Amino acid sequence: MEQVLFRHNRPGRCVTFAEYRAEGGFAALEKALSGMSPNDVQQVVIDANLRGRGGAGFPTGKKWSFVPRDIPGPRYLICNCDEMEPGTYKDRILLEANPYSLVEGMTLAAYAIGVAHAFIFIRRGYEEAAENCRRAIAEAKEAGLLGKNILGSGFSLDLDVHQSAGRYICGEETALMNALEGRRANPRSKPPFPAVKGLWGRPTVVNNVETLANIPAIVANGAAWFKGLARISEAAGTKLFCVSGHVNNAACFELPLGMSLGEIIDGPCGGMLPGREFKACIPGGASTPFFTREHWNVPMDFDAVARAGSRLGTGGIVVFDRNTCMVAATLNLVSFYARESCGWCTPCREGLPFVKDVLARIEAGAGREEHIAILREHVQYLNYAFCPLAPGAMGPVEGLLRLFEDEIREHIVMGRCPLGGKG
Ligand SMILES: Cc1cc2nc3c(=O)[nH]c(=O)nc-3n(C[C@H](O)[C@H](O)[C@H](O)COP(=O)(O)O)c2cc1C
Ligand code: SF4
Repeated sequence: MEQVLFRHNRPGRCVTFAEYRAEGGFAALEKALSGMSPNDVQQVVIDANLRGRGGAGFPTGKKWSFVPRDIPGPRYLICNCDEMEPGTYKDRILLEANPYSLVEGMTLAAYAIGVAHAFIFIRRGYEEAAENCRRAIAEAKEAGLLGKNILGSGFSLDLDVHQSAGRYICGEETALMNALEGRRANPRSKPPFPAVKGLWGRPTVVNNVETLANIPAIVANGAAWFKGLARISEAAGTKLFCVSGHVNNAACFELPLGMSLGEIIDGPCGGMLPGREFKACIPGGASTPFFTREHWNVPMDFDAVARAGSRLGTGGIVVFDRNTCMVAATLNLVSFYARESCGWCTPCREGLPFVKDVLARIEAGAGREEHIAILREHVQYLNYAFCPLAPGAMGPVEGLLRLFEDEIREHIVMGRCPLGGKG
């Protein structure tokens, strides 16, 4: 299987600048700055059908195209490396192995959008990844690949690493911009969208680490090559799937988009742990509704996973065996979201602790039949929250109600957890 993002990886250590260069690193930047216009770079990203890897899967080139080019004054590019969603650790793995694809990708993106100052917003705790980024920036500058008048092209870019104090909400792009400006990290209302009014009121693009790290290979090899990496025709490229839970080999894999869930679990993950049987999984990070055995053959791509009732999200797969209590697992996830609510709007600030309390009662054997309807109502109510954190938090609850209503009812009828509370 062709590797794009992990192509330069070395076992147990970060690739060096010299090794990355020797393997064709920064050749895409040389190609772009010597013969492609900013619009050409944007167009190849549009044609490649690269979709954002930060969770929503929005087409990257299209997002760039929303930035007005005719307004004078600065524009900004921000790389989102907050990565606090439970079950998601791909950006850390990527940057600990190779920060250069990100630095090169950001330089290409900045060139395409007309940005002179860009930021890597990285969560505190990701010390090694942040250190790698700082070193890569210094090395690229030293080699004339970043900073003033890059490769004599007249294009200049300053790239700064910002280590955030970090909360889950800092990953939401408008809260992230508030945090970067030194304000309280609550989301802003949209519109205006960041592409028009973002950081310090200026046009801004926010992209995920994995999204940006794909750009050099797309510019170097072209859109058709990138599309051909996927397993199914509606998808494009590879994806980092970071797997955890009851499998033999829980790790981060770069795989073609469109591989089925079952192929991923039985293939690179080495199957279930000895004696364990698959019951369910979170397919794309903690905010995505569960998949069960009936979803075994679903191709893991944005549209296919959405058609099957969930979201590809970040590609963080958490696998549960048949002894897992799905009420306890959902309670665990909702507890995280209730704690991480930024408190800005009432439905989320009050609603998530309430949902957590209802699930805790059911799990403790004190649930009542009407709690099922109450949970169902709250899946709807929390759509009225100010930002996607709250509807995302209800993703697993919605999946629990749709796929495991019998298991909830068993708790209520028996007056205890039938599985001993293993969540
Ligand atoms: C609560 C919340 C947390 C988020 N956390 C992250 C994150 O850690 N990293 C990320 O790239 N996107 C995160 N996102 C999505 C960003 O708002 C944004 O859509 C993304 O960074 C865009 O990048 P992309 O287009 O490359 O996917 C989060 C969204 C929400 C609502
Ligand atoms: S939904 Fe939650 S996280 Fe989002 S603004 Fe409201 S309180 Fe804050």
